[in-house]
Amino acid sequence: MAVEILPTGAALGAEIRGLDLRRGLDPDSIEVVKQTWRDHLVLLIRDQDISDADLVRFSRYFGEPRLAPLGEARMKGRSRSPEGYPEVAIISNVTKDGIPIGSLGNGEAIWHTDMSYLEEPIMGAILYALEVPPSGGDTGFANMYLAYETLPDELRSKLEDSVCVHDHSLNSAGFLRRGYEEVTDVTQTPGARHPLFRTHPETGRHALFLGRRRNAYVPGLPVEESDALLDAVWAHATQSAFTWHHRWQVGDLLIWDNRAVLHRRDAFDNDDRRVMHRTQIEGDRPYYKRA
Ligand code: SIN
Repeated sequence: MAVEILPTGAALGAEIRGLDLRRGLDPDSIEVVKQTWRDHLVLLIRDQDISDADLVRFSRYFGEPRLAPLGEARMKGRSRSPEGYPEVAIISNVTKDGIPIGSLGNGEAIWHTDMSYLEEPIMGAILYALEVPPSGGDTGFANMYLAYETLPDELRSKLEDSVCVHDHSLNSAGFLRRGYEEVTDVTQTPGARHPLFRTHPETGRHALFLGRRRNAYVPGLPVEESDALLDAVWAHATQSAFTWHHRWQVGDLLIWDNRAVLHRRDAFDNDDRRVMHRTQIEGDRPYYKRA
């Protein structure tokens, strides 16, 4: 299959043209897609008209899909996945009989890494647009290789051997997860501890690994010092020079490398519908191997 690759021209992201994901891809095309993904960190594939089965088949080229995380819909007694596809998470503001059909609502989703509150965060995620609002709801990405490579020396030396606690209590839209209480003391934040620098297991490149800013904490530091350090590194990592935002059309599919990017989403009008289906690919425990 002949494909065309069009880098966004920003710090990350490329569109790949010439793929029809209703059919299985041949091994050469799969390798081209994966290499383009490794090189550009986020891939855009437009004009698709795929089923959940197609989405799951495509996801398996990258690894084993992980079951969808618990969302607001599940908390209110409704499945967070389409019937028969527990590995597909519905991301939506739409409600049925007063119950959300999916997660994240219509508000802003702050910069985050997916599932970094777990010991083994996912390695990537694939998001497919079924319904999109006329404005808002754009998804943004930030290149954490670049953020690592351009880190000022003073910050680098403070972060080199540090870990960070990744809050499990709140999701990226600010909803409290089931079974958690509001964090009032960040030294008690529940969630996995990961090194702030991470070595990508496939490319060998180093990246900043930040998770979420809310309730984050660097163990061993006084809270004010931890907050000042994290504020400085977050300001560096999310500067616009490292980012690219995508304006969605129905049929768009994005794949991101959760080991090397942060992502976020703009708010949109709750009178508009946004329905996305997402898969998440199994990953492993982050580590940092100095050069
Ligand atoms: C996500 O954070 O996984 C969803 C992003 C989006 O809704 O655009």
